[in-house]
Amino acid sequence: MENVFKIDAVYFLVFIVSCITFESIATYLPDIKSLITPRGQYLIGRVTLRNITQSSTKAVMVFNNLLCIDYTLYKCCVRYTDSGGVGQDATSNNISLTKISVQVPPSLPDRITSIKSTPVTAEGDNVTYVCTGDVRTPPANFIFQKFGHENISLVNYTATKTSTQEFPINCSFYRTSSITFMVTADDNQAVMRCAPVSTLAAENIYVESEPLEVIYSVKMPTIVRHPNKTYYLVGLDARIDLTCTTDGNREPSYLRHKDNQLEAISTRKL
Ligand SMILES: *[C@@H]1O[C@H](CO)[C@@H](O)[C@H](O)[C@H]1NC(C)=O
Ligand SMILES: *[C@@H]1O[C@H](CO)[C@@H](O)[C@H](O)[C@H]1NC(C)=O
Ligand SMILES: *[C@@H]1O[C@H](CO)[C@@H](O)[C@H](O)[C@H]1NC(C)=O
Ligand SMILES: *[C@@H]1O[C@H](CO)[C@@H](O)[C@H](O)[C@H]1NC(C)=O
Ligand SMILES: *[C@@H]1O[C@H](CO)[C@@H](O)[C@H](O)[C@H]1NC(C)=O
Ligand SMILES: *[C@@H]1O[C@H](CO)[C@@H](O)[C@H](O)[C@H]1NC(C)=O
Ligand SMILES: *[C@@H]1O[C@H](CO)[C@@H](O)[C@H](O)[C@H]1NC(C)=O
Repeated sequence: MENVFKIDAVYFLVFIVSCITFESIATYLPDIKSLITPRGQYLIGRVTLRNITQSSTKAVMVFNNLLCIDYTLYKCCVRYTDSGGVGQDATSNNISLTKISVQVPPSLPDRITSIKSTPVTAEGDNVTYVCTGDVRTPPANFIFQKFGHENISLVNYTATKTSTQEFPINCSFYRTSSITFMVTADDNQAVMRCAPVSTLAAENIYVESEPLEVIYSVKMPTIVRHPNKTYYLVGLDARIDLTCTTDGNREPSYLRHKDNQLEAISTRKL
């Protein structure tokens, strides 16, 4: 700068998004001292301000502990008295510390819970799974993976509802995502897994639900005669086994007919 008679102060300014304006966070008074302004109180303990003198006017602010909140735009401003004795201000360009450079891998989701409309889940009921956790920066999405018997991957769902709470101080995004689906008999004992989707995520970062208990109705039973004959002779055919099988959760009870009488002779699967 030319025509500078005296440096009066140097300021660092930070862009305040909510006010769409730059405000001073640190003031350097030559040969006196450097101080953090009321607006810059959030920097206390995290930055070191170098002192300046009339002969050494390089103002430096060192961040010792960067937080997400620090990734924004900065400017500096020099207030000086020119050779004519007139006060002047000179302001720098914006410089930005960009958030792109901040990458924090998502942590293990906190939990997955199921929400059922009825205490007992039957075919045709809707079940909702809710997954919550800190997905960090950039915020990862949750994927839901449904596993059936023997860990067979049944369906992958992407969240249909999601809400995120941002904590700019520590680059955290707390996410709550959910999916809802209509239950079928095949979903009995299914386990839902929730995992963050991120290239940064370590493998096997997931939580799993309790197995889903589905009550489903009995399918059409099949009956088998043994021996299999068109006619049975009294006295000769001492024994005929009728085997009735079906499938259902809540073991179905079985009734067999004998001598044209309806009699429950077995309620167990034979
Ligand atoms: C700057 O000066 C003040 C007051 O003289 C002093 O307390 C402070 O420690 C100095 N800061 C540095 C970084 O030297
Ligand atoms: C500095 O950033 C503010 C806010 O984004 C913008 O309005 C202004 O034009 C920028 N100034 C320069 C010199 O880049
Ligand atoms: C399940 O959800 C579907 C689609 O949202 C809806 O049409 C159906 O009525 C729901 N069933 C029950 C039992 O709530
Ligand atoms: C299914 O996965 C769980 C962990 O997710 C594991 O403990 C279990 O051994 C697996 N079972 C089979 C049959 O692969
Ligand atoms: C679900 O996604 C996983 C991992 O991307 C994949 O291994 C699996 O085959 C998928 N399952 C289905 C049913 O598409
Ligand atoms: C980030 O900050 C929020 C609010 O202070 C806190 O609840 C959360 O646990 C923090 N996350 C991490 C990973 O430190
Ligand atoms: C029993 O015999 C009938 C008539 O011969 C035949 O259609 C049926 O398939 C047989 N059932 C079994 C289980 O063998």
